[in-house]
Amino acid sequence: MFDIDKPLVGKEEIDALIECVNDGSIAQGKLVHKFEEEFAKYCGIKYSCAAMNGTSALHLALLAVGIKPGDEVLVPSLTFVASVSPISYCGATPVFVDCDPVTWCMDAHDLEKKITPKSKAVIPVHLYGNACRMDAITAAAKKHGLKIVEDCAEAHGTTYKNKQVGVFSDVCFFSFYKNKHMMTGEGGMCLTNDRRLIEKIGLLRSHGKEKSENLSDEDFAQKQFISSEIGYNYRMTDLQAAVGLAQLKKVETFITRRIGYARLYGELFKGTNLTLPGFDKDVRHTFWGFPVLLASDEAKVRAVIEFRKRGMRLRSFFNPCHMQPFYKKYKSTCPVSEDVSRRGVLLPNIHSMKEEDIRTIAKWLKELL
Ligand SMILES: Cc1ncc(COP(=O)(O)O)c(C=O)c1O
Repeated sequence: MFDIDKPLVGKEEIDALIECVNDGSIAQGKLVHKFEEEFAKYCGIKYSCAAMNGTSALHLALLAVGIKPGDEVLVPSLTFVASVSPISYCGATPVFVDCDPVTWCMDAHDLEKKITPKSKAVIPVHLYGNACRMDAITAAAKKHGLKIVEDCAEAHGTTYKNKQVGVFSDVCFFSFYKNKHMMTGEGGMCLTNDRRLIEKIGLLRSHGKEKSENLSDEDFAQKQFISSEIGYNYRMTDLQAAVGLAQLKKVETFITRRIGYARLYGELFKGTNLTLPGFDKDVRHTFWGFPVLLASDEAKVRAVIEFRKRGMRLRSFFNPCHMQPFYKKYKSTCPVSEDVSRRGVLLPNIHSMKEEDIRTIAKWLKELL
């Protein structure tokens, strides 16, 4: 009945795509460059490098900050597995950190406890559009000399202490998957204020090759295909960037709608036994979904089954990554993440929905409580 992942695409996106195709501007080109500039401006960060999706952007970011086999990288257990797998691509070890019982984002106390001499970086994930408590996380990272790579995949426009998330780290990344606050179908981007990091990310994104405009005439003649290191093909296309540029113009409208729907869910659930999302006063939560906890595991299972019968996929919270079959071997303890994940559902809160959809979903859930 409800398509919980449906993007909102208008004439602007369609016209931009047609122009792109007519222009022959289909692979990475001038529109990717423009999208990088415009999105960096929106975030208030100097440099940016687009990638084919958020996962590849995180992989590039970790390589750029120097993550190597044998290093440990701290990451919350309660996140989508794509926050973790790039650590494994680098041959490093993920160390799972529990979540805060109120915000459901990384718990800074548990982070401190799990830092070891092998720790090299931390990935705070701004889960479901909430913001991590970056003061405490940055202080811990600074004390122990860790790099910070912020996962902003679900947090476009989220602010912490009046600053957009993404500015609290060495490098951050966003996802533009179709169900995000703004989308390019698939897509991602790294952003940083460090020029050397972005140059490294740019090099790795495209086979480790120097940009041809950086080569002297002589080098251009002889070294166009020299790769200074092993890189990847993680490029975004102009087709994606064309959509991204059109979406960027509307992103604040989309976010305002999501925040409004979240407020409505909150009002409709007053007086129920649901645990509603907790966030600090100095956070602008942009609600990539409306996360709630039911009273018990059984109540959640019942709700998912009932919604399914009514033709709607009710999303669970992410399964804690330390319990994924391939990460169980690290024997991590994250009891809060386990409890929250067992009881949590993410109600749909996408800007393509109508207010009546929110009211219907809230009514269905209330009937089950
Ligand atoms: C928290 C989080 N991190 C990383 C990613 C990976 O992004 P992508 O799907 O664009 O590869 C996602 C996915 O959407 C995500 O939700």
